[in-house]
This record gives sequence, C-alpha cells and structure tokens, in this order.
Amino acid sequence: MKSAVKIAFLCSECGGDFPKWHGQCPACKEWGTLSEFKVTKKTNKFFDGESRKPTSLNEILYDRPEIRIPTKITEVDRVLGGGMLKGSVILLGGSPGIGKSTLALQIVSGCDITSLYVSAEESESQIGMRAKRLKVSSDKLQISAENQIEKIRDYVSLIKPELIIIDSIQTMFTPGIDSLPGSPNQIRECGQQLLQLSKQRELTVIIIGHVTKDGIIAGPKMLEHMVDTVLYLEGDDRYDHRILRSVKNRFGATHEVGIFLMSSKGLQEVKNPSELFLEERTKNVAGTAIYASLEGTRPILVEVQALVSPANFGTPQRNVNGFDFKRLSMLLAVLEKRMNVIMGTKDVFVNLVGGLKINDPAADLSIISTVASSSREKPIDPSTVLIGEVGLAGEVRSVSQIEKRIQEAKTLGFTIVIVPKSNERTLKPRPKGISIEFVSTVKDTFNILF
Ligand code: TYD
Ligand code: MG
Repeated sequence: MKSAVKIAFLCSECGGDFPKWHGQCPACKEWGTLSEFKVTKKTNKFFDGESRKPTSLNEILYDRPEIRIPTKITEVDRVLGGGMLKGSVILLGGSPGIGKSTLALQIVSGCDITSLYVSAEESESQIGMRAKRLKVSSDKLQISAENQIEKIRDYVSLIKPELIIIDSIQTMFTPGIDSLPGSPNQIRECGQQLLQLSKQRELTVIIIGHVTKDGIIAGPKMLEHMVDTVLYLEGDDRYDHRILRSVKNRFGATHEVGIFLMSSKGLQEVKNPSELFLEERTKNVAGTAIYASLEGTRPILVEVQALVSPANFGTPQRNVNGFDFKRLSMLLAVLEKRMNVIMGTKDVFVNLVGGLKINDPAADLSIISTVASSSREKPIDPSTVLIGEVGLAGEVRSVSQIEKRIQEAKTLGFTIVIVPKSNERTLKPRPKGISIEFVSTVKDTFNILF
C-alpha cells in the first residue's frame, strides 16, 4: 500500500517546496532555508476535493459588489483603503508587546459584526481583562483559546462569523504536519487553510504574526505572499506612538500610515501627527531642520537632526536613523564635491526625530541642509520647512504632491517653505499665507539659509 504521508522540503524564505533537499533554495537562491516537511494526502489537497467551476467575468462584476467593512477607526480604515474588504485576508505584523492584540480587539469592537477571536496566546480571562480596559463589549464577539486549525474550522461552521482574528499564527497548528507550532511548515499549512476558509466562506480574516528583530514575520516570509493585505504595527520603546503601515495591499494603496498613541485606554488615534512629531522640537540650535514628508496620502512634518564632529581616529563614523544609509552617503558626497564642505574627516550622525522611517527622496534637501548647518554651527531659521530631492550635480529636483506638503507647513504655522524650482509650474494657484522660495540648486538653498 502506498504511504499516505509524503515528504517534501520547504523553503522558509519563498515558500517553495521540493521533493529533494538542497543547500540553496532552487527558487529564491537563499542558503540553508530548506527543511523537511511531511504532507498528508488530505492536507495536500487544495480545496478538500471541492471543485470550483469557472465564473463569467460579468457575473463577478455585477453580482458580487465590493463590500467593505468599516472598522470605525479612521486611521485603520484609511490604511486599508476604506475598511476591510469582505472575504480578504489581512496579516498584522509587529514585534511582541507593540499592541497588535490591542488593535485587533479595537477593530473587532469597531466593526460590530459576528466575530470569532482566536487567542491561543492568552487565556479567555486575560482577553476579558484587556476588553474591560479598552471598554469593549460586544455580544457578537466570541472568544476561543483553541489553537488547532481544524477545530477553528468547526467553530466557524458553528458560529458563522463574518470576521475571525487569529492571534497569533505562530501558535496555530494542524496535526497533519509533523512539526511544532511556529515552525515554517506549520505556519505555511495553517496560513493556507485560513486562506481557503476565507475564500470558501467569504470570511474576513485577520492573522496576527510576530516579527523577529530583523523586522520580518517570524517564520516564513511567504505568509506575506499568500495574504491580500500586509500591515505592520511599528513603534519604538522610547515613544508611546505607534505607526500602522500598509506594505502590501491588493485592495488599496500601499505606504499609507495610521498613527496612534498607546494610552491606558488602548490605542488612540492621532489626528494631527505633525504636532506630535514636532512636540519636543529644539529651536535655534545648529543641525536641525523641518521637512514635510508624505506618508501615503498624508503629509507629516518631521524634525531632522544632524551632528557633525571631527573624527578622532580611523574611518569616520556615519550613523543614520530613519533614513537610507546609502542615500546619506550620496548626500555627503554631494556636499563635499559641490559645496566644498569637507566631510571625509568628520563623523556624521543623522536622526529623524520620533522614530519615523522615511523612504522619500524629498527629504534630501532637509538632510543636506541640517548636516551643513551642524558643520557650519549655524542654525536654520525655525519657521522654515525644506522640501526637495537632491541630484548628484547638486541640483534640487521636483517632488510629488508639493501642495499637500506646503499646506501642512502652513497649517502648523511655518512661514517659509523652500521648494524645488521645477515644482513652480505645478503650483497653480500659489498657496497663500506662506512665503515660498523656489531653488534650483543646493547652493541657492544655502544662500537663503545661511
Ligand atoms: P498587546 O496588544 O498585548 O501587544 P502584542 O499583542 O503586540 O504583543 O499590548 C502590549 C502592551 O501594551 C502591553 O505592554 C501593555 C500595553 N497596553 C497599554 O498601554 N494600554 C492598553 O490599554 C493595553 C490594552 C495595553
Ligand atoms: Mg498579543
């Protein structure tokens, strides 16, 4: 008789499976990521033998309108692109203790639909205590401490929820796989089963996943490929604020962020993040500048700080928080080559205050200016905001959505904004109530600033 168990080797990086072991994954070329994995006949079948016949596109277009479930938390809804899409699978990642369970509980209570909260990590009473603290009560919410995926399937048939929360995927297991909960095999199989369950029943699923120190979902990265939406809850131990970021969204824009403050009553929405990030601002000190970032559709003002000091020995240090290291090196080279500021013998530290991570070339001008400000020991006027990308020739290049950024600067009481000359023609009509300086080079900018 043929054995019902098949052996496969699974890559924890890309999720590919192979009949043989390899030191390097044949698909994604990562080394040492393949591990043995036993597949039983039953779990290997994708839809439990159920066939899905093709449907005409028109039927899909007209008979199945897109239904969104608003969470009633504005920040979350915006990040998701207008609420959770019915039947979608959302992965909520974040390091332990950052507030994932708190946010999930707030989301369920906001939705007010029949839901099942599966918490294998905490007991029912611990969840009860958290709910009390958050002042959440709902007769449509069932809590379960079960961690076996098949049992969860049964509960779903019984309760018929519209939304389930899995807290967390690292604690889920299926007996069909011969390894411990949290292992790549278990995560992949449980993820796969949740995906099926969601598609079969048009069930919205939020899967919570812990991330490792490197910031990836512990276990397989492939979970990210499987789901529809990936959200990360980020934060810094030193601050109370939390940032919810969408890194993948099949049904909305990515790079949208939601900002919260962790308080004694859970996560509170921050309606005006610029105020939060500028709260402890230092004025009239050399080496600080304000930059208007754009996170998704929303502008946020942040303080950029730099400290330039003589390097004592050996290779000078470069240290950057919240901004791309290579980009900083490029800006320092531009400063040295085009502006004759000697950087080769200096230590340079750059910090984006508040733990925000920016991946926006429009930050260049503020960074290069604050480095120059620290190096020259000359403060930048505190009522000035800098926006612009810097090119290798020392030119200032146009940036996207300049009006929004200027508008935010104006709202927060800044009086001068320095922007790229090439953005001038897109700025019609010119925003009023704030003085706009157009610059085409870093040199022009420094002439205004210093
Ligand atoms: P939690 O949601 O349990 O984090 P995760 O699920 O990501 O591991 O929340 C973790 C921290 O948040 C915990 O240290 C306590 C704190 N907290 C508050 O400050 N206020 C609150 O209202 C709640 C519920 C938690
Ligand atoms: Mg938790």
